[in-house]
Amino acid sequence: MQNAYLETDVRSAELWERARAVMPGGNSRTTVFTTPHPTYIASASGATVTDVDGNARLDFVNNYTSLIHGHAHPRIIEAVARQLSLGTAMSFPTEAEVRLAELLVQRVESLELLRFTNSGTEAVMMAVQAARAYTGRPRIARFEGCYHGAYVDHEQGDLLLPFNDADATEQSITQYAAELAAVIVDPLPHRPGFVDPVPGFLQRVREVTRKHGVLLISDEIISFRVDHGGAQQRFGYRADLTTLGKIIGGGFPVGAFGGRAEVMAVFDPTRTSGPSVAHGGTFNANPVTMVAGYEAMAMLPPPEYNRLATLGQRVREGLADLLETRDIPWQVAGQASLFKLHPHPRPVSDFRSSQPTAAEQHAMEQFYQAMFSEGIVLTPELAGCTSTPMTDVEADALIAAADRAFTRVGHL
Ligand SMILES: Cc1ncc(COP(=O)(O)O)c(C=O)c1O
Repeated sequence: MQNAYLETDVRSAELWERARAVMPGGNSRTTVFTTPHPTYIASASGATVTDVDGNARLDFVNNYTSLIHGHAHPRIIEAVARQLSLGTAMSFPTEAEVRLAELLVQRVESLELLRFTNSGTEAVMMAVQAARAYTGRPRIARFEGCYHGAYVDHEQGDLLLPFNDADATEQSITQYAAELAAVIVDPLPHRPGFVDPVPGFLQRVREVTRKHGVLLISDEIISFRVDHGGAQQRFGYRADLTTLGKIIGGGFPVGAFGGRAEVMAVFDPTRTSGPSVAHGGTFNANPVTMVAGYEAMAMLPPPEYNRLATLGQRVREGLADLLETRDIPWQVAGQASLFKLHPHPRPVSDFRSSQPTAAEQHAMEQFYQAMFSEGIVLTPELAGCTSTPMTDVEADALIAAADRAFTRVGHL
C-alpha cells in the first residue's frame, strides 16, 4: 500500500478536523494541502521533520527550497535568540538590514540597490510596480505556466510568452514593446519542473528587452540557490531587476527586490523629481529575519554551493540509474541543488511539454505517497533540493527509499 503512512497519522487527522472548523478546507497555504489531509509537524531539525504522531522523515522539500541549511541550524538559532531579546520589530531601521543588503549587493553583480519585503510575492509585486513607474508602460510579460507568487499569476491582461522559444518570444516582445514595462523570467522555471533554459535563450530575451526599453526582471526566488551569485551568474546574463526570497531569510518570512540604481530610485524618499512609488510594510526588514538571513548567507561561500550541487547530482544520477534499471519511462530534471522527477519520457522544454497526462499524474501521486511512507518528503510534484546538513548518507537514503517506493507502487 503506497499510503501506509496514514495508519499512523492519527493526531494529524484530528488536527485537520479542528482546522476545518476554522479555516476553509483547514488550510492557509494551498501549496501544503495534501489528500486526504496534511500531516502536521511537531518539530524539525537538520534534515529531519517529525510529525505530531512521532514519525520522523528526511525532508527534501525544506519549506519549498527556502531552508538551505535545513531546520533549526544552531548558528541561525543563536543569532535569532540574541535578536529576540533586543527587539523583534521596531518602527526604525536597524544595522541588521544594512548588513544583509550589503552582503547581497556584493554577491549579485546587477544588484546596485535593493529593498526588503516579507515574501517573494511582495517582492515581485514591487518589482512590477517599479518597472511600471520607471517606464510609464502598463503591461507585464511572463512565460506561460511559470509561477511568480500569489499576485502576478492572477493578474489579468499580462502577455504570455513561450519559454525556450526565442523567436516567438522576440516577436511578441517586439510587437507589444510600446505597452510593455517588463518581462519577468524564472530562469530555471520550477512550476514546469526545473526546465533548463536552452543555451542562448536568456541572452536573446535580454537583448530584445534592452533594444525596446523593456525591463528584464529575473525572478530568482528559488533559483538564487544555484550559485553564489545566483542564476544570472550561472546562466550569464544581467537583469535590470532581480527578485529574491526563500534562502535569504534564513528560514524566516522574506523577500527582496532590487537592481539598477536609476530604476530603484523610484522608491527613494529623498528624491524630489521623477516617478515615485511608496512601499510600506509593517514587518519589512524586521531584524529577526535580517539576522537569520545574514547568518544563512554568510555560511554559503562558493565551495558550499559546489558541495550542495555535488549532492544534488548524486540524487539526480541515483534516481536516473534506478529508472533505467527498473525500466521506468520517467526522467530526472534539475540543476545544482535542485531535482525533480517527471513522470513521463517526453522531452521537456516548457510548461506545455512538461504536463503529465491524467494517468501520469496519478502515478506521481502514488509515488509521492509511497515515498512519504518510506520516510522521505518530496513535493507532491516530486521535486526536492539538498540542504547543507545533508551528506551522501541522506542522498543514498533517498535513492534506496525510491527503490522500495517503486516496488510499493507496482507497475508504472
Ligand atoms: C519563482 C517564484 N517567484 C515567486 C514566489 C513567491 O514567493 P513567496 O511564496 O515567498 O510569496 C515563488 C514561491 O515559490 C517562486 O518560486
